[in-house]
Amino acid sequence: MGKVFICDHPLIQHKLAYIRDEKTITKDFRELVDEVATLMAYEITRDIPLTDAQVTTPVTTANCRMISGRMLGLIPILRAGLGMVDGILKLVPAAKVGHIGLYRDPETLQPVEYYVKLPTDVQERELIVIDPMLATGGSANAAIELLKRRGCSSMKLMCLIAAPEGIKAVQNAHPEIDIYVAAIDDFLNDHGYIVPGLGDAGDRLFGTK
Ligand code: URA
Repeated sequence: MGKVFICDHPLIQHKLAYIRDEKTITKDFRELVDEVATLMAYEITRDIPLTDAQVTTPVTTANCRMISGRMLGLIPILRAGLGMVDGILKLVPAAKVGHIGLYRDPETLQPVEYYVKLPTDVQERELIVIDPMLATGGSANAAIELLKRRGCSSMKLMCLIAAPEGIKAVQNAHPEIDIYVAAIDDFLNDHGYIVPGLGDAGDRLFGTK
């Protein structure tokens, strides 16, 4: 079973409190999400493999360690996922970014793809799927399924806030996936909002409400 990592660093938790606050304006909300994404990127990349490397310093040679293995790919789920991309890229600027857009069919309530653009070598990359609000888990599961259909085998899921329902849904559908969250909230309300949550992450990021 994949693990759930709660990124409980004090800086992440402090910034998350401001992110949740209804009084936080769009500009600050966006900056705070960006900062938390950078801090979470530090945690999610903790197990990247290293290889020995010799570097010539001005004094002598140093036995160092450098990142090896698969290159990273970031896969934000539109639109709220976009808010975390730049913050992660600050730490891993060589990562490529693919986008997945999904909407919920009003009849079937199933997620439907409306936009998919992935790096050509996506199958060879270690992927971070970004879904800031893991509510029912429907979008995250659909995105992970799509990536698996395209031959991707190595993925982690990064969320800002998750509902227990969303975590359970991802664990049931994709038991091997590790999930990184800044917080696990109480429940989903009848409107599909995470409680206490932060409201609609897309609207708050882009000032559309
Ligand atoms: N998406 C959001 O943006 N917020 C929620 O609370 C749930 C899903």
